[in-house]
Amino acid sequence: MSLTDKVVLITGGSKGLGRASAFLFAKEGATVVITGRNEDALAEAQSSAREEGLELGAIAGDVSQEEDCRRTVEQVLADHGRIDVLFNNAGVLYAGTTWETTPDVWDHTMAVNVRGTWLMSRETIPHMLERKSGTIINNSSVLGLKACPGAAAYNTSKGAITQLTRSMALELAGTGVRVNAVCPGTIVTPMVDEIFDQAPDRAAAEEFFRSQHPIGRFGMEEEIARACLFLAQDGLDFMTGSMLSIDGGWVAR
Ligand SMILES: NC(=O)c1ccc[n+]([C@@H]2O[C@H](COP(=O)([O-])OP(=O)(O)OC[C@H]3O[C@@H](n4cnc5c(N)ncnc54)[C@H](O)[C@@H]3O)[C@@H](O)[C@H]2O)c1
Repeated sequence: MSLTDKVVLITGGSKGLGRASAFLFAKEGATVVITGRNEDALAEAQSSAREEGLELGAIAGDVSQEEDCRRTVEQVLADHGRIDVLFNNAGVLYAGTTWETTPDVWDHTMAVNVRGTWLMSRETIPHMLERKSGTIINNSSVLGLKACPGAAAYNTSKGAITQLTRSMALELAGTGVRVNAVCPGTIVTPMVDEIFDQAPDRAAAEEFFRSQHPIGRFGMEEEIARACLFLAQDGLDFMTGSMLSIDGGWVAR
């Protein structure tokens, strides 16, 4: 599963699943560039990687902003000549029912999760089409396949990512460019840790989410990174438009 010589661009790569994937791809020999809004967080990820003998490129930018996405893709192409793998991972999660969610939270969720995935793909696809080669991996969620109460904006945004993945896969079928999504169950990343902290009863919230996984535990960041690595490898030409569940059996029920 060697990724030597592959250029991999990972959005939201300073923390959580994006960071774990960046480290794993780099360990497998890929040239990895991470993005995120916060320069300090990016620098911290780079320096932790260096401690493990890994080099990560970093570009600051907000995936919801068209200009930032254009600049990011142009810079990776200028620095490395191509993008073999785009991992649209950046995302935000807010708790809230349909009626509690404010318009600002709704708009921000859609801007980062849906618009960001679309904008980064929109900037990258023409280049992949020119090379007749490339893989896009979108980070959907188990909540892109099923809903859970109290996450109305997030459920909706992840459902949209699922459909965007299918749309892109169909449009690009036969071109050499593949598009798939990962649909993780719950992994206690900084995002999820913050949501648990905000719950009126953290232990009860954790138990509720843990109980959704028939395997009886949360997932680990590395387990999602491994699924991304799998989707990025050569030899999977027939695999496009898939929603790859890594969820301890959640959607199997
Ligand atoms: N952790 C889970 O249980 C879980 C489950 C299913 C799907 N996911 C998805 O995985 C992805 C990563 O989540 P995570 O749990 O690692 O969260 P996280 O908060 O730990 O990391 C999210 C990353 O996205 C970045 N980001 C946020 N807004 C951005 C923006 N506007 N522009 C650029 N970068 C931005 C953050 O800086 C951070 O690096 C998200 O799309 C999330 O929805 C997570």
